[in-house]
Parts: sequence; C-alpha cells; structure tokens
Amino acid sequence: MADFISGFWNMYVMVLVALSILFCVFVLASNMTKREKGPVQLHGHVWDETLAEYNNPLPRWWMYLFWITIVFAVVYLAIYPGFGRSNQSRGQWAQYDAEMQAAQERFGPVFAKYREMDVMAVAADPEANAMGKRLFLTYCQQCHGAAAQGAKSFPNLTDSEWLWGGAPENIKETITNGRNGVMPPFGPALGADGVKDVANYVRSMNGLAHDSVRAQRGKEAFESNCVACHGADAKGNPMLGAPNLTDNRWLYGSSEAVIIETVTNGRNNKMPAFGAFLGEDKVHLLAAYVLSLSKK
Ligand code: HEC
Ligand code: HEC
Repeated sequence: MADFISGFWNMYVMVLVALSILFCVFVLASNMTKREKGPVQLHGHVWDETLAEYNNPLPRWWMYLFWITIVFAVVYLAIYPGFGRSNQSRGQWAQYDAEMQAAQERFGPVFAKYREMDVMAVAADPEANAMGKRLFLTYCQQCHGAAAQGAKSFPNLTDSEWLWGGAPENIKETITNGRNGVMPPFGPALGADGVKDVANYVRSMNGLAHDSVRAQRGKEAFESNCVACHGADAKGNPMLGAPNLTDNRWLYGSSEAVIIETVTNGRNNKMPAFGAFLGEDKVHLLAAYVLSLSKK
C-alpha cells in the first residue's frame, strides 16, 4: 500500500473518521433531553386538520442503540486495525507480513539459484523464463506491451535492435538504473526547409521514397549536425541511446512528418529505474527474459 499512497492520504482518512465519530457523539449528547415535569407539550405541527404530535424525547433504549453503534465503531477500528499500522499483531497487516515471509521462504532459494547462474544460461531455462514473464507482465507490459513488441516511443524488445546495447550487462544496467534518450531539437538551427532536407536524407538511407535533391542537401546537414550522436555511418551509438537510422526500424515512425517532428522538436524519452524497487534478483530474471525474447 505504501508504494502507491502517500502518508498524507492515510492521515486524511484517519482525521475524517475521527471527526465523524466525534460529530456523532456531539449530536447525540446535545439531544439527550429529559422529559419535562407536568403535562406533555404538543409539538405544534398539525396534519390532516386535527392530528397533532406530543413533544416527547426519544425513548432511552433508542438513544442507547445509537451510543452502542459509536462504541462499536471505536472497538472495530481498534481491532480491525483500521487506524494506522500501530496494531501489527492483528488484521491484514499481520496476514501480509506472514504471506511475504512465506513467499520469501518459498522463492528465496529459487531466486538464489538463478542469481548464481550466468544471464544467458538463465535465458535458456524455461522455468526461469516463466518467472521472468510473470514479472514482465506485472511491471513492464504497460509500456512495452504484453508481447514486448513496444509501441510508439516504447522500444520493441524482441527485435535484437538495441538503443542502449544488447549485452546482458547493458540490459541489466537499463532495467536497474533506467535510461533517458535525449534527441536535441534542430528546428531553430536548420529551419523548416533544412529539417525537411535532412528528413529526406534519413528516408533515403532506409530505402524509403524521398526527394533526391533534398536528400543530397540533407546529407551535408546530417554530416555536420547528426553524426556526433548517430555516427558517421548513421548506425547509432549505444552510449547515448542514439538509434540506428539505417535499419528501417523506428521508435516513432518512418513517415516524413514524424521524422520532421523528431528533428524539429527533439525527443526526451525515459525508461524508469527498477533496481531499487525490484532488487537484483528480479532484475536478473527480467534481463534473462528480455534476452530470451530477442534470441527467437
Ligand atoms: C513507464 C514506461 C516504461 C516501463 C514501465 C518500462 N519501460 Fe523499458 N523503456 C521505456 C522507454 C520509454 C524506453 C526507451 C528509452 C529511450 O528512449 O532511450 C525503454 C527502454 C527499455 C530497454 C532498452 C531497449 C533498447 O533498445 O536498448 C529495455 C531492455 C527495457 N526498457 C526493459 C524494460 C523492463 C524489463 C521493464 C520492466 C521492469 C520496463 N522496461 C519497464 C519505458 C518503460
Ligand atoms: C545529442 C545527440 C543527438 C544528436 C546531435 C542528434 N540525435 Fe537524433 N536521436 C538521438 C537520440 C538519443 C534519439 C533517441 C530518442 C529517444 O530515445 O526517444 C534520437 C532519435 C532520432 C530519430 C528517431 C528515430 C526513430 O527510430 O524514430 C531521428 C529520425 C533522429 N534522431 C534524427 C536525427 C537527425 C536528422 C539529427 C541531426 C539533425 C539528429 N538526430 C541529431 C540523439 C541525437
């Protein structure tokens, strides 16, 4: 729970519950009137021409029922425990701790076994891949897709093409510390026409339809602006996460409009860090699973 909800919302709910109970006590206490001596007064309301109502207090037994509900609420909160995590020995927290403990005892040795093994050996182990797949479906599929084939801006992990390198240690590094792919904007430096030229050059390198005069001009602009990151042969640089621009595989898309958008405005793309959250053992299994996908 603490992974998703800040302490503020816990406090908010606790204060709200306490205030509600106090409010009920106040309403009840301020309505505990005694029956007055002498003849009973009429309430003053009249229905159906002659039907009047005595102004009697609620019967005692009825009031006590309300008090009992308040006592019940307080006792329930204490035992459940519905008021913070102070009461560790009971309720769902104890259950949670027991389940975590049991899981640790059951899976600890399994994780330890794979931790000792080389990533590539783990990648070839069906049982390890089944575990890796479950982890992937829990933590990674919302961005990379259930089949790890990616989507616009989320790389395909099954195609043996890597922004940041495909060696086991590169993949572990990616998952542990995250990555930030930064493509600077070139709109101001090149101008709309210059960007269109360079986009045509990029398309020409992938065998896609292009304007050859523009591509020729774009080649020069590419050599003076882009090779620092994408490389002289435009095959990319895994140190910077700069993609290969010659393999007709695209993070964002191959159309002229999308390439123009990338070059004009730049991109800033983040893969979150999972090392601290998942721990080394799970990162190890996930790296092996990812590698097993691209080997096929
Ligand atoms: C919030 C979305 C998000 C989640 C969740 C996520 N990723 Fe990523 N991942 C990305 C993005 C975006 C990139 C590309 C970063 C870049 O452009 O440099 C990426 C890149 C990668 C890469 C590098 C690909 C390459 O070509 O070098 C790997 C490997 C990877 N993710 C694995 C995982 C694994 C395993 C998980 C689950 C633990 C995961 N990702 C969860 C968004 C996500
Ligand atoms: C400072 C390094 C750097 C420079 C300079 C640079 N790029 Fe990039 N480029 C990147 C990175 C990093 C990415 C990946 C962005 C991401 O992960 O989202 C990228 C992505 C791209 C893409 C998207 C590819 C795809 O698969 O969709 C295109 C197209 C591109 N760059 C073209 C260019 C052109 C043309 C130039 C020169 C005008 C250029 N880049 C200059 C670093 C750079």
